[in-house]
Amino acid sequence: MTALTYASPFPADFVFGVAAAAAQIEGAAFIDGKGESIWDRFARQPGKVHDGDTLDVACDHYHRFDEDFALMASLGVKHYRLSLAWPRIYPNGDGELNPAGLDFYHRLFASMKRHGITPWVTMFHWDLPQSLEDRGGWTSRVTVDAFARYADTVVQAFAGEVKHWITMNEIRCFTQLAYGYGTKAPGRKEPQAVVNQTFHHALLCHGHGVRAVREFGGAGAVVGLTDNCDVCIPVTETPADIAAAKAWFLEKNAHVLGAMHAGHYPADYLARAGADAPEVLPGDFELISRPTDHLGLNIYTGTYVRAPKAGASDKAWEAVPLPANYPKADSPWLHIAPQCIYWATRFCAELYGHTSLYITENGCGYNDEPVVNGEVLDLHRRDFLRNHLREAHRAIADGVPLHGYFLWSFIDNYEWEDGYQRRFGIVHCDYETLQRTPKLSARYYADVMRTRTIL
Ligand code: NOJ
Repeated sequence: MTALTYASPFPADFVFGVAAAAAQIEGAAFIDGKGESIWDRFARQPGKVHDGDTLDVACDHYHRFDEDFALMASLGVKHYRLSLAWPRIYPNGDGELNPAGLDFYHRLFASMKRHGITPWVTMFHWDLPQSLEDRGGWTSRVTVDAFARYADTVVQAFAGEVKHWITMNEIRCFTQLAYGYGTKAPGRKEPQAVVNQTFHHALLCHGHGVRAVREFGGAGAVVGLTDNCDVCIPVTETPADIAAAKAWFLEKNAHVLGAMHAGHYPADYLARAGADAPEVLPGDFELISRPTDHLGLNIYTGTYVRAPKAGASDKAWEAVPLPANYPKADSPWLHIAPQCIYWATRFCAELYGHTSLYITENGCGYNDEPVVNGEVLDLHRRDFLRNHLREAHRAIADGVPLHGYFLWSFIDNYEWEDGYQRRFGIVHCDYETLQRTPKLSARYYADVMRTRTIL
């Protein structure tokens, strides 16, 4: 137990940062040799993305990164989580390397350095090269081999500039939602057995990412996964409800965090999957469960869980449905439950023994945040931030090894199938003029970072 009290500052080494991802902000989708990604293709299919929005221009960060880093620096941002666009580096996923892609990121890292900002780099944030999808995408081991080569290439190329690596971003989203429900690119609706295999291939790629950093990352390089674990929150913080929430967490996260931790798929997951269980080859889990340096968690919301009444259920837990008037953001999935930060981090530490956790994303999506007289008064986002930071602070006070918080997002950007309608930024982006306007929440977060205190 630390001596942190309600009003004390965050620990001196706690990392405050902002996050974004290549496909969502860079634009320049077909420039300087970049190959087509599955999102470039998906966005052009009628009815897949809100208003048919494409990633072609986005925030034009590709041409404006210097200006963006100057703005970050002016807000006191010292850590920025970004991703590399795989199709910029290998336009076909494997095959020929595009030197202009590497060159772009060298220039970008040089600018970050000039502005005193440390990069936290995600190798894969959903923009799979379309050529790999044409050869099976995440259902095929061709993608695993291609990723291994891509990971080797980027770690070797940027070892001098990057010390903080993240392998994959939110495996569930580019497997289950993309190959099962079909709501994300490539929009396939495959049987669960195929989806489970995509999970397995993504885990293998994570392993290759770790391997690449160990082989080529150089002194001081660290690496981990960013997971969007299913989060459960005890309805009341009583021992019975906490135990129920913990049992729920273990079950729902068995196939990613559970598998990585155990070094095999947990027996109860395999029993539930039955004939749909993924095919595992010898040596796979040696790669998947290589030790990492940290675990990143993208935490936005959670499910309320309680202990079932005696005899009411054969499960150890019961999910409590949300009433219609429960508060939420405009993103329909984003119910506002700040305790998700506390319980996700605490359960990851308690159940899997993680000793270095980061919130690699947390934020809220709203429509229509107009600039009026040069201002965006997003008090709703200020409140969201404040309440979630409060729970991060509580976790640290209770001894949870939470070492950093990255706000999603630095700037409004392409919110995947929701297009540009949904804004997560603390900086407003006018998509007509591409003008940036820091919102009230940006000023608030700048003050939090400066004072290391929840104001
Ligand atoms: C998770 C994803 O990593 C990010 O790309 C997305 O924009 C945010 N959540 C908000 O939905």
